Amino acid sequence: MALFTKLYRSPSIVRPHYLFHRLRCMSNVPENTVYGGPKPQNPNQRVTLTHLKQKHKKGEPISVVTAYDYPSAVHLDTAGIDICLVGDSAAMVVHGYDTTLPISLEEMLVHCRAVARGAKRPLLVGDLPFGTYESSNNQAVDTAVRVLKEGGMDAIKLEGGSPSRITAAKAIVEAGIAVMGHVGLTPQAISVLGGFRPQGKNISSAIKVVETAVALQEAGCFSVVLECVPAPVAAAATSSLRIPTIGIGAGPFCSGQVLVYHDLLGMMQHPHHAKVTPKFCKQYARVGDVINKALLEYKEDVSNGSFPCPAYSPYKISAADINGFVNELQKLGLDKAASSAAAAAEKIKAAELFDVGSPAND
Ligand code: KIV
Repeated sequence: MALFTKLYRSPSIVRPHYLFHRLRCMSNVPENTVYGGPKPQNPNQRVTLTHLKQKHKKGEPISVVTAYDYPSAVHLDTAGIDICLVGDSAAMVVHGYDTTLPISLEEMLVHCRAVARGAKRPLLVGDLPFGTYESSNNQAVDTAVRVLKEGGMDAIKLEGGSPSRITAAKAIVEAGIAVMGHVGLTPQAISVLGGFRPQGKNISSAIKVVETAVALQEAGCFSVVLECVPAPVAAAATSSLRIPTIGIGAGPFCSGQVLVYHDLLGMMQHPHHAKVTPKFCKQYARVGDVINKALLEYKEDVSNGSFPCPAYSPYKISAADINGFVNELQKLGLDKAASSAAAAAEKIKAAELFDVGSPAND
């Protein structure tokens, strides 16, 4: 007997069909009878640093958008965005803080993992949060390693260009982790910048932006974000570098652009948030208005009882089983429950007869 047949017949060996059955019965595998579950995506199409280099060489602009959770990541993936940045702007647009300072590494890792599950094509870059990389090169490398290992990111971003930040960037690159730099307005440094202020608005500050970007390139960064600097300053930085610049509030002369997901979609239509959408941000939609309208309609439908109508009550029980169920309830002395079940069955039958509440009639 061939070895395979012997093994297959042996009762102590898990047989392939049995294994298959076991897998299908695992509770965490989404059953498509109720929920569709995530569609498999092709991991072979992941954007890499090589793709970015090619794009940059051809002069094709690089698109970057932030994402913080599974749905935003799926949307970026579907739109074919090149880089998905899990920014510490999550502190402000997701957690509601006034600055990016309070978000912790643990919180960032939760965002990173959710994004990694949703975005299979874009290059994934995770921000190092404030307080997790400034003390030493070792601290910076350890944090960057966690962002890749536990967060599922492909690269990290860090802010600033002080000498210690440049050596930290170099140490992280030497540890085998791709680094994106970030100069100009670096929101983690608002304490020393005196607030969310544009940078490069005078000669010395403009020179500093260019010099810092070059230093980050020499440290091995694959790209540099230029935030809130005048367009000529961004143009000077871009033409001084071999690596791509990604602008945000830095004008059109960068190698690519980045915007915050909630800002570009116009999610924050609540008056408190509307005022914090930066003035450089073009709103490509007013998703917040759509959300508000939908929530008001839902509230109204629940209040007046028109949701869920039969069309949204999909789980059926046969007439015979209803009778049996009603009888059992009566035997158990649950007369009120029995008459409620019978009345509900009658109402649903009547509504279905008149086709009330089908999606077409909504
Ligand atoms: O945290 C973030 O979202 C960022 C971008 C604005 C560049 O750093």
